Amino acid sequence: MSETVRFGVSLSLGLLDEFDVLINKLGYESRSEAVRDLIRQKLVQEEWKAPDHQTLAAVMLVYDHHKMSLPSRLTEVQHDAYAQVIGSFHVHIDKRNCLEVVVMKGKGKDLRALAQKMMSLKGVSYGVLNMGTGAKRLH
Ligand code: NI
Repeated sequence: MSETVRFGVSLSLGLLDEFDVLINKLGYESRSEAVRDLIRQKLVQEEWKAPDHQTLAAVMLVYDHHKMSLPSRLTEVQHDAYAQVIGSFHVHIDKRNCLEVVVMKGKGKDLRALAQKMMSLKGVSYGVLNMGTGAKRLH
């Protein structure tokens, strides 16, 4: 872990009050931890903009497995991208619906494209990409 430093921040009392209400609602025990998380979020967002940065992501898909050929097409997309797809987790929600989380590793733009490919398959009723990080710069 790197050295810890303290620094001061100037802002209006109104803005600080709003921030305190928010972080209290979110369960933060201190402003410092809330500010650290905001900084980390911003750094991860910037990582995803860098064209060659290696990162991680998880895409969540909800779909009806009765939709013709969807499960096999989804498997095919993942096999085609075996270098990026680390693993997946499948839950049978009910008799029809499945929830699948696919964890991926690679360049942000490649992972975004791969997630989009899976989310746009016919029969996927909900899909969302969660941008992750290798966390090298976040400590
Ligand atoms: Ni299922």
